[in-house]
Amino acid sequence: MKRRNFLSLGSALAGSALYAGAMPGAAAAGRDRLRIGMIGTGMRGQVLLRELVRRDDVEVAALCDIEPIMLGRAVQMVTAAGKPAPATFGENGDGYAYRRMLDSGKLDGVIIATPWEWHAQMAIDAMQAKVPVGCEVVAGVSLQDHWNVLDAQLKTGTPYMLLENVCYRRDVLAVLRMVRSGLFGELVHLQGGYQHDLRAVKFNSGDPTKPYGGGVEFGAKGWSEARWRTEHSVRRNGELYPSHGIGPCAMYTNINRGNRFTRINAFASKAAGLHDYVVRNGGEDHPNARTRFQLGDIVTTTLACDNGETIILQHDTSLPRPYSLGFRVQGTRGLWMDLNRSVHVEGISKPHEWDDARVWFEKYDHPLWRKYGEQAAGAGHGGMDFFVIHAFIEALKENAPMPIDIYDAITWSAITPLSEQSIALGFHTLDFPDFTGGKWRTRKPIFAFDDRY
Ligand SMILES: NC(=O)c1ccc[n+]([C@@H]2O[C@H](COP(=O)([O-])OP(=O)(O)OC[C@H]3O[C@@H](n4cnc5c(N)ncnc54)[C@H](O)[C@@H]3O)[C@@H](O)[C@H]2O)c1
Repeated sequence: MKRRNFLSLGSALAGSALYAGAMPGAAAAGRDRLRIGMIGTGMRGQVLLRELVRRDDVEVAALCDIEPIMLGRAVQMVTAAGKPAPATFGENGDGYAYRRMLDSGKLDGVIIATPWEWHAQMAIDAMQAKVPVGCEVVAGVSLQDHWNVLDAQLKTGTPYMLLENVCYRRDVLAVLRMVRSGLFGELVHLQGGYQHDLRAVKFNSGDPTKPYGGGVEFGAKGWSEARWRTEHSVRRNGELYPSHGIGPCAMYTNINRGNRFTRINAFASKAAGLHDYVVRNGGEDHPNARTRFQLGDIVTTTLACDNGETIILQHDTSLPRPYSLGFRVQGTRGLWMDLNRSVHVEGISKPHEWDDARVWFEKYDHPLWRKYGEQAAGAGHGGMDFFVIHAFIEALKENAPMPIDIYDAITWSAITPLSEQSIALGFHTLDFPDFTGGKWRTRKPIFAFDDRY
């Protein structure tokens, strides 16, 4: 779609119920410089902060973290770039200090990069304070959290974007163009997931200079994600991190935009990897060797779509393995698989042979990457973190719909509590709620198709 068409679509959507990301007032509309705050300036917050600091259209106005070391590092990043020191909140350890930051009336947007258990409450508070939200994955923990975040967004009209960066990966966006040009024919089956050995993230020694590995501590004795993320592996069993895998698959299949998830189930393997890691690295007598982890090492979730596609997600974070999100996008005329970096298109590729995907990706390179690829170089996760921040800021500046909006956020993230329910019921197949209340039938694709964001 051409930019002109996008703009007219934007204005047609404004004022309609389809326009779930519209600003309530004109807080940031038409501004060329935004005052942005951040809640949670840990390892991820600092990566996103780097993207904010290097933009001329952003003033990092306020930062909040309850861990003084993390907060200090973040302030240092801003001042080292020659920018004014932001106001700070939370150094006294008050978990609700962020509310004073939101109520200061001085923010055009806030990034939430805290532990998962805080995302829903913080987003709701921000939306009620009329501060637009860019929220790190996930949207909430329980299913009720998801309904509450959706309800707050719809009632306040404050924009909400899930900062799902994998949707902006260069190959993922090239494949989006391939899908939309019909290269793979009619889509039939997709796969993705989060296949990332996180054992050295879930355990460390608690040393603030060594966030990854070097020990088997977690909880109060751990540092960064080991402080909070590991507890989710102790207590929960489900697809705990769905959006990196489902985000691109949902884009390809137009979920909430002419298509929807109808059914879901999840199967979990036994939980053996984390215990084995603790015993091998901390010894059988380490207190954490007695921890019973609930999270199955491989959780396989299957989704059925209204248009007849099936999607499989795999969550695999507790066993040794090289990183791969395991994408597969398959239709009546061909497919892409990311693990072997290959494409096959019937009638163009040699029969029964793979093409090197790079040739296809060059041809279908997305205009966003063509335009901003050099700027994105050096940004986190191979450049995609540039794009996710860019999208949030540009949409706010234009008072345009959030590219990954509240319906996407809630639908993708709710896979977690639904998968937990399915597993708890003996791998039962469940109906998938329609969070759009029927609007999925008429909503149009609105993101990642032109060269702006
Ligand atoms: N999109 C990605 O690629 C990506 C990568 C890594 C992490 N993440 C997400 O980012 C989020 C943060 O992860 P992280 O790796 O930075 O973890 P982290 O533990 O390093 O940072 C979280 C920070 O939040 C702070 N915090 C906790 N409660 C708070 C409160 N009530 N008020 C203010 N600050 C509070 C902690 O002190 C900590 O500094 C998570 O949701 C994680 O899933 C996303």
